[in-house]
Amino acid sequence: MSNKEILSKTEAYVRNKLEGEGSGHDWWHIHRVRNTALKLGEEENADLFVVGLAALLHDIADHKFHGGDEEIGPATARKWLTNLNAEESLINHVCEIIRDVSFKGAEVETPMKTIEGKVVQDADRLDAIGAIGIARAFAYGGYKGRELHNPDTKPASHHSFDSYKKSTGPTINHFYEKLFLLKDRMNTASGRKLAEQRHQFMEEYVDRFLSEWDGK
Ligand code: ADP
Ligand code: NI
Repeated sequence: MSNKEILSKTEAYVRNKLEGEGSGHDWWHIHRVRNTALKLGEEENADLFVVGLAALLHDIADHKFHGGDEEIGPATARKWLTNLNAEESLINHVCEIIRDVSFKGAEVETPMKTIEGKVVQDADRLDAIGAIGIARAFAYGGYKGRELHNPDTKPASHHSFDSYKKSTGPTINHFYEKLFLLKDRMNTASGRKLAEQRHQFMEEYVDRFLSEWDGK
């Protein structure tokens, strides 16, 4: 099967599986991450076939929604790509990216091994900040039935993946627990540039949110 066919079949598979998902991992998240990843990948001279394929499959089975099983994403992708008769080395590379890509708490480093992994991770993180990141955070909070903000609570500092996963605080806390940390974790120079603009917008947004909260 040609690379082009692998990409178009995978796109149809992912789209069908994630269409209408309500927690912020819907098809349009995948669509945005792929476009951003391809743009960064071009600037960083990455293999754009691997970048496109890994971006499409990066949230195929999110462990947060599968009882915390971190192997389910890579395993689902492996099964799919094996059925398409993709090359073993390509499958291994894509599955490694899927395994390493997600944020695992403020104090947990998740180094990406290849430039293709670096740009996919940067693109995924860019979609969690800025105007879209704000929308996704509140959509996720609503999905989980959380408060927007509660001045009686303090953001937690998550020392482990477990404590990050169990976080149930109001959505504003999520900005301090994760979203404001992302700009300093970008892997590539092109990603960092975009992250800085989005970060600044998000800071202005939270400042205004908190001053309106107090009736200012
Ligand atoms: P990743 O794509 O790195 O796995 P997540 O799955 O943790 O990221 O998050 C998906 C989206 O949901 C992101 O936009 C993220 O900011 C948002 N999100 C995750 N946890 C929370 C939370 N506790 N409160 C608000 N938004 C959250
Ligand atoms: Ni994602």
